Amino acid sequence: MQLPLHLDRENRRSLQTQIFEQLRELILAGKLRPGTTVPPTRTLAQQLAVSRNTAMLAYDRLINEGYLQTRAAVGTFVSFDLPEESLVHLPAPDERMATPRESPRHPVAFKGRVHAVHTRDSRGLDVDFWVGRPAPRSFPAKTWRRLMGRHLLTPGDRITDYGNAAGLWRLRESIAEHLGSARGISVTADRVMIVSGTQEALNVIARLFVREKTPVAVECPCYQGAAFVLESYGAKLLPVLVDEEGLNVDELPENGSALIYVTPSHQYPLGTTLSLERRLRLIDWARRTGAYIVEDDYDSDFRYQGSPLTAVKGLHGGECVIYLGTFSKSVGAGLRIGYMVLPEELVEPAWRAKALMDNGHPWLEQAVLADFISSGAYASHLRRIRRVYMGRRDALADALQHYFGNVKLTGLDGGMHLAWHLGDHLPTAKTVQEIALQQRVGAYALEAGAAVSIAPTRYDERALMLGYAACTPDEIWEGIGRIARAISRPGKHALQNRAARPIP
Ligand SMILES: Cc1ncc(COP(=O)(O)O)c(C=O)c1O
Repeated sequence: MQLPLHLDRENRRSLQTQIFEQLRELILAGKLRPGTTVPPTRTLAQQLAVSRNTAMLAYDRLINEGYLQTRAAVGTFVSFDLPEESLVHLPAPDERMATPRESPRHPVAFKGRVHAVHTRDSRGLDVDFWVGRPAPRSFPAKTWRRLMGRHLLTPGDRITDYGNAAGLWRLRESIAEHLGSARGISVTADRVMIVSGTQEALNVIARLFVREKTPVAVECPCYQGAAFVLESYGAKLLPVLVDEEGLNVDELPENGSALIYVTPSHQYPLGTTLSLERRLRLIDWARRTGAYIVEDDYDSDFRYQGSPLTAVKGLHGGECVIYLGTFSKSVGAGLRIGYMVLPEELVEPAWRAKALMDNGHPWLEQAVLADFISSGAYASHLRRIRRVYMGRRDALADALQHYFGNVKLTGLDGGMHLAWHLGDHLPTAKTVQEIALQQRVGAYALEAGAAVSIAPTRYDERALMLGYAACTPDEIWEGIGRIARAISRPGKHALQNRAARPIP
């Protein structure tokens, strides 16, 4: 046994005294229990690089004062009859465990709320209209396996060394190229930074701009994942109401806002598309007030009606836009790969923030994704699943129409979910959510569907979110049919007649 003793040779106290005092302390603190054998003086002297005589003198004193005892054939051990005053200080092991701490531990400073996400746990549902979940079978597993295998044949030092925290250059190049044709954004690879999904991008942005009470404008209702990150850094969230055409730009706060978070392609949660006129007015506002626009373009790869509008980032004046893209919807959320397109002046600070967070993204996934995009496989993958998802969207709209008549839906033009605005003859969204759950069907009122309203809106009570990408048409018909039958069942009339609370 080595004793945890540390001698200070600069100390005025002799080495022998230091050994005596430290050993006594270990005994009194109960760290050396009665009966514990201590090392022979020769061993202790070697451990501490002192003469054997010094160790012997220290032990002698401990023996004289009753802390140690010595017995032939056993050696020297901690005394069973410790000096009186020390017994008072020596708690039994159980007592020591129960002794309350002298002062409370420092409080946790972090106060973040967690946003709702879909995990692999399907919660025992037969049909789950969870929002924005890709079809699990759409993942290009065969191509992925092949590309991974190829990269692992000759990984070199790319797997053992750190990479650039901003991401793999080849991937940044292929994303820059993709954005030109797909989103009308003309950008070079040095402005693209790879992140672990939109969630990390939002953390980077918040680190750059948000301190206690920094004003940040957000859509209302808004994506929880964004609102909760900003809030956790201390932002004062300023709600800007969303109407049938997306963000109501007439309501933008006139000054002080550092950022505005928006989802122009497919507003989360309502699915509306921000008109070109409103996009331009948004840019005007940002240029006038000095705010940055955070454009979250999470599911714009899926557009079913007309051609997609150019991203706000791609419009004239788009230099004030921080554009966020993710592969969570188009390839899979488990990949955890997304990217930011940064205004020039933010490239370096964002890189520093990202480096401090995680030293960059895993190399292998980036290398595979870069090949996947540059080989054209990504474009054909998108074309294929776009067709599938469009069929599912149609099935959902048809099923709702079939069972509920003239339904009001928003978000049909693109994305992976729509919002059903429940007529006043129907129960509230929360009640429909409960009824659906009893039928083992997942349908989501805004709050349960990862949306949050900073100020109350009528959508909180009347909008139901339905994701369709991960459900087959048969499942969609079955799920909506079950909800319709449960709502119209006579016993459920009490639920139907529950009046909606009026909300401004
Ligand atoms: C509005 C919005 N933005 C972004 C994301 C994607 O986040 P991430 O890239 O972190 O997976 C989602 C996912 O549901 C979303 O709904």
